[in-house]
Amino acid sequence: MESSIGMATRIRTLAALAVFKGFSTLPNRNPMSDTIESLSTENRVFSPPSNFAATARVQSLEDYKKLYAESIADPESYWAERASELTWQKPWETVLEWKKPDAKWFVGGQLNVSENCLDRHVAAGNGDKVAILFEGEPGDKRAVTYSQLLADTCKFANALKARGIKPGDRVIIYMPMVPEAAVAMLACARIGAVHSVVFGGFSAQSISDRLEDSEAVAVVTADGGWRRGKVVELKASVDEALEENTTVKNVFVLKRTENEVTMRNGRDHWWHEEIEGASEECPALAFDSEHPLFILYTSGSTGKPKGILHTSGGYLTGAYTTYRYIFDYKDNDVFWCTADVGWITGHSYVVYGPMANGATQVFYEGAPNQPDFGRFWQIVEDYKVSVFYTAPTAIRAFIKAGDSFPEGRDLSSLRLLGSVGEPINPEAWMWYHTKIGGERCPIVDTWWQTETGAILISPLPGATPLKPGTATLPFFGIDAAIVDETGKEVAANEGGKLVIRKPWPSMLRGIYRDEARFKETYWDEYWDQGFYLAGDGARRDEDGNFWIVGRLDDVLNVSGHRLGTAEVESALVAHPAVAEAAVVGKPHEIKGQGIVAFVTLKTESNACDALSAELRNHVGTQIGAIAKPDEIRFAAGLPKTRSGKIMRRLLKEICASGTVSGDTTTLEDFNVVAALQQTSED
Ligand code: WT7
Repeated sequence: MESSIGMATRIRTLAALAVFKGFSTLPNRNPMSDTIESLSTENRVFSPPSNFAATARVQSLEDYKKLYAESIADPESYWAERASELTWQKPWETVLEWKKPDAKWFVGGQLNVSENCLDRHVAAGNGDKVAILFEGEPGDKRAVTYSQLLADTCKFANALKARGIKPGDRVIIYMPMVPEAAVAMLACARIGAVHSVVFGGFSAQSISDRLEDSEAVAVVTADGGWRRGKVVELKASVDEALEENTTVKNVFVLKRTENEVTMRNGRDHWWHEEIEGASEECPALAFDSEHPLFILYTSGSTGKPKGILHTSGGYLTGAYTTYRYIFDYKDNDVFWCTADVGWITGHSYVVYGPMANGATQVFYEGAPNQPDFGRFWQIVEDYKVSVFYTAPTAIRAFIKAGDSFPEGRDLSSLRLLGSVGEPINPEAWMWYHTKIGGERCPIVDTWWQTETGAILISPLPGATPLKPGTATLPFFGIDAAIVDETGKEVAANEGGKLVIRKPWPSMLRGIYRDEARFKETYWDEYWDQGFYLAGDGARRDEDGNFWIVGRLDDVLNVSGHRLGTAEVESALVAHPAVAEAAVVGKPHEIKGQGIVAFVTLKTESNACDALSAELRNHVGTQIGAIAKPDEIRFAAGLPKTRSGKIMRRLLKEICASGTVSGDTTTLEDFNVVAALQQTSED
């Protein structure tokens, strides 16, 4: 029993001084000191519960280490073995062709991605297994089996073909989180069209930018989707985006919310009419392993979104394998990843990863707080969700909303939890572990990016000892390291830049139509070594665990000391009054930069000077005087991207100039920024 996760060992020590290297390009550099006092105090260790480990795919740290060493000695063989678990219509000749920065995986091989996600489960006798347990925001329910999903996909693929959509054509998908969103993606994959999903919360302008960059020939959308009890008028946004567009010839419109829409003759077609009479069979043609599967736009920190390009064989191998091992896939699991298909998480861990494995999963259309913050836990209870995957921003929102919501629900079906998107503050981790996981479920804190296509750093839930706040260890075949400016690996607890030193199958194949930006963003910095630069600062502890300390762009520089944002923020979140925090640097005459902390309280009305002094001291005692914020600004909300990431760039601007003039198109709610600008004028 001593390995039970409930029996955490609590050894609180002052961790070593983390020396941060590789930031000489930052302004105000004090040549006397390249060091960063990164006094991490997080040493709680949670070993995998023995009953979990007993049935897990990888059952001990020793096994992980052995398999990892083998995989890293010969990643090509490792990945080739994994890829061979998929269905290939023609076997590959070469596992990897690497001409930096361009990788080709499984060269000469041919497959159909949708066949791997659908037909092969039906052929194996699992056609009646439920693929999607759908719940709409208004409460409507639908279960879709793999046979049905295959038939629906074939019908819609035939409808696309009938309108002249060909392999290689780009198709924009702008849909609510309904099963048809997955059908549209899989139908594109089936006929070799390249999908580009645009999150349903994005504006007409965002659609039109993406239409222009991708030169899409078709759009798949819906009349609307439900969000917080209201209809989001998707078709109306598409109409606006298409006003000056010349490339789109066909728009397919799913009827979901029954609101009135304008249909343009010849261009716009109702989904249900298009599939009427369409055949339920559509041959799964073979496409090259490197045939493009999708483009997904991700906002760079500097504005213009980058069209991240992923291809077929390698991407599917990555999504399939990581889902299987990291979520410890079991045939009877009910998986729920709360991400929208508009994000990479929705591509890899809603559509391709789970479906390549033949998993059953929940699709929920709406907001987490509709009608209240109990909605997710009601869904977990109703569908007996066993594996649940969400983001730290959601967890912090649940904490703020109060414990009564999860406490009123039976969450005993859960066996495994996951987190993605940002460093999870240890305090939020503990809450997730206790209130949602019942101190029974391992938590996989998964580090990856739109660019990496699949999870690269994560615990294996039956094997890896967990510490709140670290994504722990690299996945099989992934050569992750933390290096200094020269590309040399730094010592334990020294900070540096996170790089991946060898190609992996699900890596991006480029930025769509922008080779120069691809090379410059990810490869130029360590060109000679051929390392992929992730853009995150990190350190490894004495056990080899990776701690992400924040984006390199956000690193603070106080008196020549370089500090990541994550530790200071986590120290603030550890204070009982605080719900969420973001820290940024502000020009300071003496120190170069001072630290400004934007803090959202659990109870807004508690804001006062005494609390602000208390919070500053709290950080001082938790981390050290160097990290003590110069200023605390209480804020009702923090500016976030639509995927929930805090936009420190905007806070930095507010601190420096009082206003925001930079790009705000990815911002979720401009009111938050307006309020912050207002307070800084006061
Ligand atoms: C960036 C990538 C990958 C799916 C969602 C985000 C941050 C992501 C973690 C984690 C610490 C994380 C990194 C990364 N990030 N997961 N577990 N711990 N940071 O995809 O929008 O491409 O963002 O998100 O900074 O570089 P994305």
